[in-house]
Amino acid sequence: MKKNTEISASVLSADFCHLARDLKRCEDAGVTRFHIDCMDGHFVPNLTIGPPVIESIRQHTTLLLEAHLMIEHPGKYIERYAQAGADIIQLQAECYGERLSSCRLWDQWPKEISELDIPALRADLSTIRKLGKKAFVVFNPGTPLCESILDDCDGVLIMSVNPGFSGQSFMPGVLPKVERLKEIFKGDIAIDGGINAQTSPQALQAGANVLITASYLFGADNISDAVKELKKV
Ligand code: DX5
Ligand code: ZN
Repeated sequence: MKKNTEISASVLSADFCHLARDLKRCEDAGVTRFHIDCMDGHFVPNLTIGPPVIESIRQHTTLLLEAHLMIEHPGKYIERYAQAGADIIQLQAECYGERLSSCRLWDQWPKEISELDIPALRADLSTIRKLGKKAFVVFNPGTPLCESILDDCDGVLIMSVNPGFSGQSFMPGVLPKVERLKEIFKGDIAIDGGINAQTSPQALQAGANVLITASYLFGADNISDAVKELKKV
């Protein structure tokens, strides 16, 4: 069955002094999810949002909230993010496996692995589901897809930039992972990074049904028009 295209607004590019106003603008424009980039300054070289901000956002919207955890030891914080009001919790695969030697140190970026510790990841995905939330796995551009974990996930997020910052350029080299997921996976296929009116048709054609966007959406003169543009194949 064909899935509806959904636009998820990544609040990293919102105006944090007028966050409620920006959330409302997105809702009025047809956005159906909010994506919250949680970064710890270790997994990625940037610091952003944690559970208290999600708690506040929860008071202002009934749309789905995605917590994208770009943090070390994400398992320790699952309950906290669930309590804060996240509906979807997204775990980076690179937190579950032996890191490549090129990215072992805290300040080496992007983090990448070649083999996933499936039992460890499965345990955390199961914790998310037991808390009544949707569990997603995220794959960095340099991390291959791991098909044996898919039964444990409600969705997969394919990073189309190396995580850490908004405003980076889309990496088309990740599209074969999206195409493969389209063939074998029934859950949500989300894509995150560099999504705009030029790149969204490629992502949709490859099989993504959730487009996550920060700088394009919040930088648009008219958010409704931007949402319509993004949905065009
Ligand atoms: C990158 C984040 C993305 C980012 C997207 O680390 O995970 O969600 O906010 O930003 P744009 O849409 O500007 O590439
Ligand atoms: Zn993100």
